[in-house]
Amino acid sequence: MDDADLAASLDLDVALRAIGATADVDDVDGLRRELIGKKSRVAAVKVGIKNLPNDAKPVVGAAVKEFTTAVSDALDSRRSEIEREALAKRGPAVDFTLGTHGRRRGHLHLITQTQRELEDVFVALGYQVAEGPEVEDDWHNFEALNFPPGHPARAMQDTFYVQLGEPEQVVLRTHTSPVQIRVMETQPPPIFSIMPGRVYRNEAPSPRNSSVFHQIEGLAIDRGITFGDLAGTMQAFTTAYFGEGVRSRLLPSYFPFTEPSAEYGVSCPFCDGGGCRVCSHTGWIELGGAGMVDPNVLVNVGIDPEEFSGFAFGFGIERMPMIKYGVQPIKTFFDDDIRFLEQY
Ligand code: DAH
Repeated sequence: MDDADLAASLDLDVALRAIGATADVDDVDGLRRELIGKKSRVAAVKVGIKNLPNDAKPVVGAAVKEFTTAVSDALDSRRSEIEREALAKRGPAVDFTLGTHGRRRGHLHLITQTQRELEDVFVALGYQVAEGPEVEDDWHNFEALNFPPGHPARAMQDTFYVQLGEPEQVVLRTHTSPVQIRVMETQPPPIFSIMPGRVYRNEAPSPRNSSVFHQIEGLAIDRGITFGDLAGTMQAFTTAYFGEGVRSRLLPSYFPFTEPSAEYGVSCPFCDGGGCRVCSHTGWIELGGAGMVDPNVLVNVGIDPEEFSGFAFGFGIERMPMIKYGVQPIKTFFDDDIRFLEQY
């Protein structure tokens, strides 16, 4: 066979007609083997090229290439066509895409947003975030924190008891301070941790008090930590959270687990300390408690108070957005009223 014969033996029209006549994908795949597979006519022509005179090689080579490409393309499009037809026969498609078609996206609750903002400030200062259980035992919630049984300071925290074990031994935690104990029991100093979470108080609801709310606790334990470090940390937090120009202060206070103890407050960000409705015309807003961890507490968790010292602080999370946005009463956070939630 000369080159002309060889090239002519690749009849594209015949091939295309056969492709058009296929009925299913198996037909198409079979025809692919037959037309351009290893044992096909075009494969044989390709093998024969090397025996042709030099001037014929490119001519036949081009014909082989053209045929193979055209047939392969025709097979591909026939295959897709058959698949499309099969899909269409199955009936209407159902769109499972979770869409944005006019639906509003949800977002985090204002308390969660605030908690995360507070965490971010302390994480940037090198603190870790720790969590503990909401159902606590008496040891962690009270005793290890230097509230022995019968101590009058227990009355500062109206407690919900859980009917479990010995009477009055299992409680809904009244503060996040028991997580301090849990962290110190499981981790040697240096400790720089914050502990956010939900807490419970058995008290009558009022515009400012709810029987469930959130606190964030902080704890720093290392060699040589002083009250100055506490004051500096509270100011660093105040600036980072409320902005440049807002001042912090620590006033004498009392908590059984800190000595000395302090009340932490900030100059009113609304009137710059001049006095307004938000700060009850005092120029200051009280946010929580703080102090140097009492040596007895360190002994209770097996840390030597001669070697280590530290500070702690704790404040309510709801208080922040209540001040910032004027949210009142506190129960608004827990009502799940979409008209409130979607504003923040
Ligand atoms: N646990 C205290 C409360 O709920 C708040 C508190 C005060 C936490 C002083 C502290 C602290 O860590 O040092 O009233």
